[in-house]
Amino acid sequence: MKQQEIQFFDSIAPLWDEREVMSVPDKINHILSLMGIETGMSVLDLGTGTGVLIPYLLERVGKEGYVLGVDISEGMLSIAHRKCDGLARYPLFLKADFETDKIPGEFDVILLYSVYPHIENPTAVLSKLLAENLRPEGNVFIAFPSDENFINNIHGKVKAKSHQLPPAAELTEWLRQNGFNSSVVEATEGSYVIRINNMRQ
Ligand SMILES: C[S@@+](CC[C@H](N)C(=O)[O-])C[C@H]1O[C@@H](n2cnc3c(N)ncnc32)[C@H](O)[C@@H]1O
Repeated sequence: MKQQEIQFFDSIAPLWDEREVMSVPDKINHILSLMGIETGMSVLDLGTGTGVLIPYLLERVGKEGYVLGVDISEGMLSIAHRKCDGLARYPLFLKADFETDKIPGEFDVILLYSVYPHIENPTAVLSKLLAENLRPEGNVFIAFPSDENFINNIHGKVKAKSHQLPPAAELTEWLRQNGFNSSVVEATEGSYVIRINNMRQ
């Protein structure tokens, strides 16, 4: 991610949790249930921001599981640390650019939650994640707690660089054309969830 976008997320970090009104508990729990996140799983939350999902993920995977949140914005991560440090016996956060840096570990679930429009080269990132970080039977999820109209409307008003988010069916088809085994899990006004895995199409 470019310096300008990092600065944008650093500056908005103190207000993020009060402004992010879509990620309410019921919706998060519904979306995580759709992903089949269960006890003992390892979950990588890319673009974790202020760690909105982290307590929910820890509760689901339990003590036998493992959760790692990655973000490049120091501002977002400082709030994530304040909220979540002490919730697990291991470091929960890593500062890294998931597009270019090597992320350590293999995971059952890799989340791109409210992050996809900020990815500069989605096919390269997905290929890297599938090759380096996803367990053979695991899944990557592109997810949002709203539909594409809500996301595109917000992005039209702020300075952070982002791509237009296509409807879930359209993005899924584009991913398939680019060689990824993708499918729509759910697409409603309040949820947008696409699954990608290493299975053959
Ligand atoms: C729109 S926010 C979403 C944060 C969080 N997932 C949520 O739903 O509250 C996007 C986050 O992704 C991070 N991000 C975007 N591109 C990134 C990259 N290449 N590497 C690491 N973090 C990135 C940003 O710093 C920002 O915190």
